[in-house]
This record gives sequence, structure tokens and C-alpha cells, in this order.
Amino acid sequence: MTNPAVGTISFGCDHKAGKALRFCAKPLRLSLLVIGLALAVQVSARAEIRSVTANPAEDCSTQMNIGWHAGLDEVNCRLLYTEKSDTAWAHATTVAGVSQRSEVFDGIDSKTPDGKDWKEEAKFLDYGVTLTGLKPDTEYMYKIVGGDGVGADTVRYFKTAGASEFSFLWVSDVHAYTPLPNRVKNFNRVIEEAIKIEPSVDFVFSTGDMVAWGGSYSFWADFFEQPFASQYMFADVIGNHDWMMRRNGGKSEFFAVTHHNPMNGYAGQEGVCYWFIYGDVLFITLNNEVMRTSPEELAAAKTWAASVIEKQKGNYKRIFIAQHYQWFNGRNGRSSWYDHWKDFCDEHHVTLALSGNVHVYQRTHPLYDDQVVADGLGTVYMVAPSSDGERGVEAGPLTANAEKLAFTYSSHAHSSATSVKTIGCVLVDVGPESIRTRLVYIDDENRVQIADEHTIATLPSDVPRPGLTDKQPAAATETPAPEATSGAAR
Ligand SMILES: [Fe+2]
Repeated sequence: MTNPAVGTISFGCDHKAGKALRFCAKPLRLSLLVIGLALAVQVSARAEIRSVTANPAEDCSTQMNIGWHAGLDEVNCRLLYTEKSDTAWAHATTVAGVSQRSEVFDGIDSKTPDGKDWKEEAKFLDYGVTLTGLKPDTEYMYKIVGGDGVGADTVRYFKTAGASEFSFLWVSDVHAYTPLPNRVKNFNRVIEEAIKIEPSVDFVFSTGDMVAWGGSYSFWADFFEQPFASQYMFADVIGNHDWMMRRNGGKSEFFAVTHHNPMNGYAGQEGVCYWFIYGDVLFITLNNEVMRTSPEELAAAKTWAASVIEKQKGNYKRIFIAQHYQWFNGRNGRSSWYDHWKDFCDEHHVTLALSGNVHVYQRTHPLYDDQVVADGLGTVYMVAPSSDGERGVEAGPLTANAEKLAFTYSSHAHSSATSVKTIGCVLVDVGPESIRTRLVYIDDENRVQIADEHTIATLPSDVPRPGLTDKQPAAATETPAPEATSGAAR
């Protein structure tokens, strides 16, 4: 990379200026050049390390994945970490970063924060490290440091698994879009309020649509500047918006590059679909953007998920699966992707199935063989509310599956003719033999509300369900629904 004072850094965008962050060579007198160099160093110090995220590793009790991006000249980034209690960093460990060049976002049609048409300028080094040998049930802090100490003053945190109980904050559908900053403000507000209600949250989980256009790197970079990203491990699934570009389709690679997820997905889905174990729960994440394309792709995802469940036996007790597209239609309760996964959930005794996309909160009773069953015997299917205060879908009367759906919520205050102002998230407390869920939302009068607080007894997945007939794997011949109800708009 050229000297930043005289060359060009093509890396992200300066959100304040709404323009690509560039330093251009111009003839300057010496004094101005010195000042310019100093300013360039300061600006680059703020901008050279971006999109830092702590993602799960396979065994979150002893491992963690940290990903970040750096300017092309930052070839020697390193990560320092230590226990949070080691306030002087006296016992810090240094790990050299491993990187590869990425230009996948460069030149993609996008918008600046002030709403102007713009092509993303994003050529950078995509870094990632996997920390191993960590202590279970321990809070850690870390920082990413580049050349000249860039990044050394920003400390971030994560917590390892290993406690007998854990909590996570489940969010969805913020559609971060820099020209409309209120979306992220609403998301931050509800997160902050939920953490006040449950300060022991261990990590943040998302069922997708974190950004409006996954091809817009500047949206991701801004999203990872939000407070949650530096405070918590973050695990999410790819949504249709995370996949899409402003125009002309999308790529799952956008998601893979902006995260440092375990590379344990099936062929073509490495770093996009992945599994991890937190506490006694095996989390499996899925990619609807491939599953919706053909019955074979849906079958491939199920085959992989089933093989993970089989191979990891003994390392977990309960199974959560997560995908973006909703199990049930939020407007009326009609079956959606529930139909494609209900047999799988029955066969493998999935405890909790998480989804988003329809922007309406839903929780079912435990279901098995399409029937409501007693606690512990079936799968609870849940859909997260949207969190942006703008693109909510209004829940209407249930015309289908009313016996299955225990609770539904959306705002009823309109943000437009077709959308409502839902701002919600879900607290999930996982105890050894039960799970408590709480919907937290900001109501139409801007008050914080807790609703649908519910605790359900759970059984390990390998325990026979008394009174129910075990199912055999079904032939995967069905055609997946091609729907993407949150649409192609920003
Ligand atoms: Fe969405």
C-alpha cells in the first residue's frame, strides 16, 4: 500500500463526510505537508481497523472467533487478549492476525449517509483469528492493534460459555441503512433497555437482516460500530437483506467476509452456515438464500444439519436451529417455513426453532407431529420482531394455526401505509432444564414493555418422548417456498 499521505486508501467510507475515505496527493508546501501527514495519521488511526466482531467458535467454552478488517497497508495486525479482571493487561496474550485481501464489496452500487448514489470503495484485508484454550465461564477483553499502535485504545469484550445457565439477547431485522440512522438508533435503544432488564446477557444472537443491503460495505462497517458489537459475542444468520445488493441480486460471500464464523458449514456454505455449542445447546444456523432455490438445496441443508447433530452427540443436550425466513406468516398465522422443517424438528427433538423476516413476534406452544404437546415433548417455534421502528408488519387476526400460536405481537402504529413501528427483541434465559423467554419492546408511547414472559420445561434431545412415536427421517422431495416477505426494498 502506498503512503497514506500521498496515495489512496480505498477502504470503507467516512460516514461523517458521506464520501469515500481518500487522501489524495497534492502539491503542498512543507509546513502544510507536515500538518497533512499528522492529520492523515489521526484519521487513519480511526479508520484503519473496522468491522470488529467476536463470533462463536465451535466450542464457546474454550474458543472464540474474532474477525476484523484493516486497510491494505495494515499487514501486521495482532490481537491482544486477557481476562477482564486483568485490568493492567499484565497477562495478555498476543496472537498474530491472519488475513486475506477482499474486494468483494468494491464498486457496488450503494448510498452515502446523505442519500446520494455512490459506489462502495472497499478494498481491505479481511482478518480473523480463533482464540483457543480459554477459561470457561470467564469474561475476556481484547483489542486489535495495527501498525503504529492503531486500535490500541479500543477495548472489546466477550464471555465464554461454561456456566450452568446462560442468557442471550435475540434480535432481528434492523435493516441498518446509513441514510436513515433512526433504524439503528431504535435497535440500540431496545437492546439497551433489554440489557437493563437482564444485565447477565452473555451474547447477542440475530436471525438476520442486520443491514439493508449486504453488498453495501459501509452499512456493515457502521453496524459494527454500534455498542453491542464491542461488548458481546455476536452470532447471526444470513437474511435476504444481508445477502442482497442494491441492484442485481446478491451473494452469501458478503456475510462470510463480514463475519469470522466457524468454517464448519457444508460445501459452499463455509462461514455462512455454521454450528457452535454454547452451554449445553447445539446451535445450527441455516441460509435461506440457498435453501429457497431448489428442493436439492433444502435437502443438502437438512443432511448437513442432521450430520452435525449425529457427530456432536455427547457434546450437547439440546438443539436450537435458526434461519431467517419465518415459520409462520405474521399477518395471519399461515404456515410458511414451518412446513419445511417440522419433520426435521420432530425427528431430531429440536428444542427451539428461531427465525425472523416477517417482522412480527410469534411463539408457538411446543409442537410435535403438527399437534400441540406437553412441555418438553415438542419444538417451540419462535419468530423475532423487527427492531428498526420502521419496517414492521402489522399482525392481524389469526386465520390459521390459531391453536399452535401462543402469542403474537406487532406495533399497530403505522410508519407508512404498509408498515408499522415495531421495535422489539427477545431475552432468552437457558437454564439446565427449562428456558424462559421474554419479549421486550418499545410501545407506541415510547415506553419499555415486557410481554409474553414464558418458561417452558425442556428435555435433552436424546431422551425418548413419553407417549410419542419416534419419527424416521422423511424423504426430502418437497419444494421450498421462494418467498422473501421483507421484500427487495431497502
Ligand atoms: Fe427483514
